[in-house]
Amino acid sequence: VTLPPGPRAPGALQSLHYGLDPFGFFRRAQRRYGDVYTVRVTGQTWVVLAHPGLVKQAFARGPSEVDSGVANEPLKPLIGKRNVLLLDGEEHLRRRKLVLPPFHGDRMRAYGPIVAEAARRQLDAWPVGRPASVLAGMQAITLDVILRAVFGVEDAARLDRLRANVTSVQSWLTTLRAGLVFTYLGPDRLARMRTFRRHLDAVDEDVFAEIARRRADPDVASRSDVLSLLLQAAPLTDTELRDELVTLLVAGHETTAALLAWAVHELARDPGAQERLAAGEDGWVDAVLTETLRLHPPVPLVVRRLREPMRFDGFALPAGTTIAPCTTVVHRRDDVWEDASAFRPARFADGARPPAAAWFPFGGGVRRCIGAAFASFEARGVLTEMARRFAWRPAGEPRGWVGRRGIVLVPARGGRVVLEPRR
Ligand code: HEM
Repeated sequence: VTLPPGPRAPGALQSLHYGLDPFGFFRRAQRRYGDVYTVRVTGQTWVVLAHPGLVKQAFARGPSEVDSGVANEPLKPLIGKRNVLLLDGEEHLRRRKLVLPPFHGDRMRAYGPIVAEAARRQLDAWPVGRPASVLAGMQAITLDVILRAVFGVEDAARLDRLRANVTSVQSWLTTLRAGLVFTYLGPDRLARMRTFRRHLDAVDEDVFAEIARRRADPDVASRSDVLSLLLQAAPLTDTELRDELVTLLVAGHETTAALLAWAVHELARDPGAQERLAAGEDGWVDAVLTETLRLHPPVPLVVRRLREPMRFDGFALPAGTTIAPCTTVVHRRDDVWEDASAFRPARFADGARPPAAAWFPFGGGVRRCIGAAFASFEARGVLTEMARRFAWRPAGEPRGWVGRRGIVLVPARGGRVVLEPRR
């Protein structure tokens, strides 16, 4: 099978380049090979789509034409197979309908107090006057929010336990050493490794206990956590519920922390933008978030596997090919964005919306991120509160490559800043 041409370096070298400098990797290939090219990284072959027109075509394809779950299957040891992220076809659509409602509108706004409290607790503890990692602080907030809003855990001791257990098991996806095991030995080997199993069993024990508690709760109808809503919406088994909850955790925790860390990292270099946040200027926080997601999309690309042969930009791709609409390159195209590599929230001031096919940090079509509104809602709350209380500056110039938590891109060294109380 001949796929579109792309970098000719061996897969191991391409993986290294992609791992260290994803923006440079995708952009250089785009300049050399055009808007459709093939890359080989971390054992996968992706046909990258680097033009908004092609992205639009890809997202228009429905579940009878493309799969998405199969392409994310390496996550199976952690989240199981039958959940909204890994299912495909009809079964996926049914499950998606079930999981969507808690993340919308009024339902979602019920989580406001949880967000405010998590932000307050973390900001109270934030070191003042000396450098600290933004990412670490934001991870603490987003984990708290998910454990309370999604799992519905309130008891402090149970929260502490679950927080610690989740952190251990997530390290298998996010630290470099564990990432290498995951990539080079493969998910099946990982699933059999004793330490991984032990960490996973500890989380499962907590989660199953939480499910049992909720099933026995006579007041479940008055609760607003996602677990309680799912329990009432459909007769799912404990294992199905567990897989769905852990999926939401894996999909939502690091991504939202990355968005917040990038926003704080950029704002550190723009005191004027911080002041407009602190003043609560109408629409400004949304402009900041939209621009952050453009310049620093936490997820570098989205994947679809073709169920049938398809043409993109003159290339005939066979069934089984994985195409990858690529945020990292499309979000910085200079024929779409003026001054594409600059952080300029003002481009989205006055409620201006980005063109959908050139801005897709949450993917698109029937697989678009379920937590998009929720993540934005949370980030809005946290950033506004932070700017009201503090002004911050960079702790030195950023050094080193972009950071990574598994596939998620984060600021180098967690984005270190120095906070001072705002007067
Ligand atoms: C800034 C934060 C976030 C980013 C950048 C992000 C990004 C993404 C992306 C790129 C996809 C793939 C979309 C596609 O294939 O077209 C996705 C899917 C998904 N996300 Fe998010 N996400 C974020 C937050 C969240 C949160 C907070 C949750 C839930 C608590 C969540 C749950 C999901 C789920 C369940 C899917 C799978 C949807 C499906 O396959 O039908 N995400 N997300």
